[in-house]
Amino acid sequence: KTEPLILGIETSCDETGVGIVRGQTLLADAIASSVEEHARFGGVVPEVASRAHLEAMVPTIRRACETAGIKPTDVDAVAVTSGPGLAGALLVGVAAAKGLALSLDKPLYGVNHLAAHVAVDTLEHGDLPKGAIAMLVSGGHSSLLAVEDITEGVQPMGSTIDDAAGEAFDKVARVLGLPFPGGPYIDKAAQDGGDRLYVRFPRGLTSQRDLERHQFDFSFSGLKTAVARWVESRRRDGEDVPVNHIAAAFQEAVCDVLTRKAIDACKDRGYEHLLIGGGVAANSRLRQMAEERCSAAGIAVRVPRPGLCTDNGAMVAALGSELVRAGKAPSPLGLPADSSMPI
Ligand code: KG4
Ligand code: ZN
Repeated sequence: KTEPLILGIETSCDETGVGIVRGQTLLADAIASSVEEHARFGGVVPEVASRAHLEAMVPTIRRACETAGIKPTDVDAVAVTSGPGLAGALLVGVAAAKGLALSLDKPLYGVNHLAAHVAVDTLEHGDLPKGAIAMLVSGGHSSLLAVEDITEGVQPMGSTIDDAAGEAFDKVARVLGLPFPGGPYIDKAAQDGGDRLYVRFPRGLTSQRDLERHQFDFSFSGLKTAVARWVESRRRDGEDVPVNHIAAAFQEAVCDVLTRKAIDACKDRGYEHLLIGGGVAANSRLRQMAEERCSAAGIAVRVPRPGLCTDNGAMVAALGSELVRAGKAPSPLGLPADSSMPI
């Protein structure tokens, strides 16, 4: 018996993603991004994103089907991100998914974007471990989640109380005069001879007092301000800013806090697996530090390849596939888009 063929649609932010999977095998992952249209604004503009999704939707579905070598009528179920995310952007994907499911007379599965970020790992490493902490770090979220069984959802343990980790990378990149989105440029600048110990920037929410209330929460806005102040004072004194060193020192502070709290969360739940996802999971220092610290703590790390860590349709198809395989009931065709969907 062949595994079910699932088509997944993702439109929660600025990527129009359509993924096709059979079981846990990825057949296609087509993506159209409006990131360049947002670059000049230094952040994603919701209205621009919605319009871009509308234009890209059908061509991206077509491209995914061509790559997978299937016809839309071969699809057994349609999965779509129904939240959380930008309301107008989500609506485009949800409407497209409903139209497809209705016209094909196939079941529709509305899925949570964060759970989909976790499920994507099945495409690379197979079944998820029973009991894992997932750390999702992107431009839109920074969360620690406990995952027992992905088809039952995820439990939030903590999240950022201000900026998302990727947002901090993007804002600091701007301060340093690097392009948007800044994460990859900071990563590269740091690798290019940056001294991680050049300045010790603050580690948010790690003091004993903060830990009492925010053990698994993050805060990056103080760090961002500290970097901005440091850079401004240098410039005021007419001195050059050593971009590589500052990038490395900033990155070190972010990765230090992320890995420390993720490992504490694993210990708290007694889990021996840490999954990392989201755009910031592509960060080379984060991967290295997580490997080192987790191996010392007896925790196995699972990080999908960078292309699967960022927003894409494959992750939605992957979660849809897990739901179908587990025999879960589909969503009603009246499925709403829920921009502030609880996890
Ligand atoms: O998951 P993603 O593509 O979109 C969402 O925000 O949901 O994540 C994008 C974020 C951006 O903030 C980008 O700067 C960051 O991920 N990013 C990185 C790296 N590559 C992407 N941050 C640090 N290091 C990287 N190598
Ligand atoms: Zn995301």
